[in-house]
Amino acid sequence: MIDQVRELFRTSFGDEPTVIAQAPGRIEFVGNHTDYNGGDVLGVAVEQGIVLAVRKRTDRLVKGVSHSVETAFEYSLDELETRPKESSWSRYPLGVLWAIQDHGLVFEHGFDFAVVSNVPSGAGMSSSAALELATAYAVLEEVIHEFSRKDIVRICRYAENHYVGVPCGILDQGVSGFGKKDHLVSIDCKNESFGNVPIPSGTHFWIFNTDVKHSLVDSLYSERFSECGEGFEVAKSLHPNIECLVDYPLAELDSLGEHLGSKPYRRVNHVLNENQRVKDVVKLLGEPEVDLHLTGKFLFNSHASSRDLFRNSTEELDYLVSLLEGYDQVFGARLTGGGFGGAAMAWTSASFSESDANAVSSNYERRFGHPARIIHCESGDGAHIAWKESSL
Ligand code: GLA
Repeated sequence: MIDQVRELFRTSFGDEPTVIAQAPGRIEFVGNHTDYNGGDVLGVAVEQGIVLAVRKRTDRLVKGVSHSVETAFEYSLDELETRPKESSWSRYPLGVLWAIQDHGLVFEHGFDFAVVSNVPSGAGMSSSAALELATAYAVLEEVIHEFSRKDIVRICRYAENHYVGVPCGILDQGVSGFGKKDHLVSIDCKNESFGNVPIPSGTHFWIFNTDVKHSLVDSLYSERFSECGEGFEVAKSLHPNIECLVDYPLAELDSLGEHLGSKPYRRVNHVLNENQRVKDVVKLLGEPEVDLHLTGKFLFNSHASSRDLFRNSTEELDYLVSLLEGYDQVFGARLTGGGFGGAAMAWTSASFSESDANAVSSNYERRFGHPARIIHCESGDGAHIAWKESSL
């Protein structure tokens, strides 16, 4: 991919890049919609990612090309406030430039960008966060700055929230930033602290992409965000010292129910229990002998809760998870990411094979008329500089 992006850069801009940065996509392991509620979450950075080459320009233009999207973009640093159209991929790199400037670092010159990706878009693996992290790492390498990895993760989330306009939590950017081969990333989203937990050896991750998405996926995400906000307001009226929804004591969930309508109550019920599931899974993964089936059960329970309480699953995802539940080699399976379509993940033993995955997909096809796209994922490292022109 590095050679590919260098070649794309050369043919597009007639020059060599000076920096190439790389950032991974991610799988949400467990912790569905806990992040923006101040909860905990576990994710895994995957080997699939984005590779982005840059070179500083002498003027204030920002030009971007991508191997997978036909439209190249050209923008000026002086017009960043005018956001590009919603459909344009330029919102992510431009949003990052905008967010970095909003955090006090002013760019004098624009950049040429070339992007190559092997994160399947629309598979719930957060190609957008990978693009944000790769952009930030690449451009920051070209200037003097004091941002830490955590600062960069926060800036990328800020870009997504305030430039792209999605009220997401810190999961996607955090996992892309703090990924580590053979490890999960654990995030305490309230304190924004990041850690790594070893992945039990011999276990594997599979993605089954339904290729079906609710047409209102973005507004449904925002709706859930608001419902949780509503739940938090009521929780706070009962416990004025709490700082976020997950601070509300799980043991007092019933009394919260008396003050909330049934819909926001279901959402809150999901979030508080889901947060507890993440804590339980972290604990189980820390045991000397990890009970894989017991740990995986929490993933199945997470899916059931998303389906029944948070209501962000779909018929397609439910069917995939129920098929996967039939395999002894599958420890756990659940929808991964925002929901309302997208992908299910399965956590399996090494004996779950390509032909097992194909059988799941064919079974899915018999019911829905198209196969589920299968991606076998390895864990990978977080965002980093993959190559830099040596300064002589
Ligand atoms: C999307 C968002 C994340 C998180 C998940 C759901 O991936 O970008 O911040 O909220 O959905 O857990």
